[in-house]
Amino acid sequence: MVVRTPPMGWNTWNTFGLQINEQLILDSARVLISSGLRDAGYEYIVMDDGWSLPQRDENGRLVPDPQKFPRGIAALADDLHAMGLKLGIYSCAGLLTCGGYPGSNSYEFVDAETFASWKIDYLKYDYCYKPQHERGDQLYQRMGMALANSGRDILLSACSWGADETHTWIKTTGAGCWRSTCDIVDTWESICRLAKQQKELQKYNGLGCFNDMDMLVVGMNGNGNVGLSGCTETQYKTHFALWAFLGSTLMIGCDIRSMSEETARILKNPGLIAINQDPCYRQPFSIGGSFNYAHGDQEDSFVWAKLLENGDIAIGMFNLSDSPRNLYFTLNDLSLPRFCGRKLELTDVWTGEVCETVDHRHCVWVDACDCRVYRAKLVKA
Ligand code: GLA
Repeated sequence: MVVRTPPMGWNTWNTFGLQINEQLILDSARVLISSGLRDAGYEYIVMDDGWSLPQRDENGRLVPDPQKFPRGIAALADDLHAMGLKLGIYSCAGLLTCGGYPGSNSYEFVDAETFASWKIDYLKYDYCYKPQHERGDQLYQRMGMALANSGRDILLSACSWGADETHTWIKTTGAGCWRSTCDIVDTWESICRLAKQQKELQKYNGLGCFNDMDMLVVGMNGNGNVGLSGCTETQYKTHFALWAFLGSTLMIGCDIRSMSEETARILKNPGLIAINQDPCYRQPFSIGGSFNYAHGDQEDSFVWAKLLENGDIAIGMFNLSDSPRNLYFTLNDLSLPRFCGRKLELTDVWTGEVCETVDHRHCVWVDACDCRVYRAKLVKA
């Protein structure tokens, strides 16, 4: 299967860890619909680690934990499909999953067949307990082959955390997305660390195999499995804007059953989702910068542009530092010198309003941990 835009959905791990069950998934699926998240593009419900029994059955097959999934997985998949959603499941290229359940190592073809028989749509495939003598590329290739021969379109979502130079071999495996970061936690430091790592990895992101910067922590507010200190609303907005702008998979990680209106507003932002899901996926490039040389570190603010399918340009100005920064870009940075006879009309993605026309330079104070994201239209100067 060819994956044309970054997969979007909700995953159980960030909030619920190993404590998952059918009721939780069905309730969350209903909220995905009633809150408008499904219609905004979030279509996968991914059951992460913790869904199976600790042992395979006598035929070597994985068995859903009957306490957690009394009707089995196939019935759940049918329900979700009837709701217009898709079901993701989790396994691991090693001997055990990270949570200690059976991994798919040496069982790739059996498991792919099982997943297909349950009508699974997406497999998150982890990297714990990998035998040292085995190669990551070969393990992911084998699962890629197993899924491709399973008789069902199942998106392979590789989760080897960027280890063993994943970027150099992941596109040989059939994965539709690959975890380009280590695990996220619900702190601003974690968000910044992952975002900065992505600068170098953008060149590997693209149609068919998207970078996965890990699940979103937007709206976790310090609760749940990876909830630590939590973040401010501004930090969550910037986190979402970074993931969306950089073409990451967008997997919600908070408990959507109790999310606030502000959380829903961030997650459903149509302008950012449109940039994330742009059919061309062109890579972002660096423009402009920060006037705050006195602060020294230029590493913690970025200004990026990205060409979109309809001719517009997405422009993201991100300030990851803890003080306001004066960020700018010029039309020259965008290869639009004056003789081109074009200027830019900026629409702010947060307000949806046209906010400025730029014919030379755009310069703006961006608060600590904040961002500006525009969709810029080229108009006659
Ligand atoms: C790893 C992955 C996480 C999650 C857990 C489950 O840490 O990176 O995203 O799937 O395993 O145990």
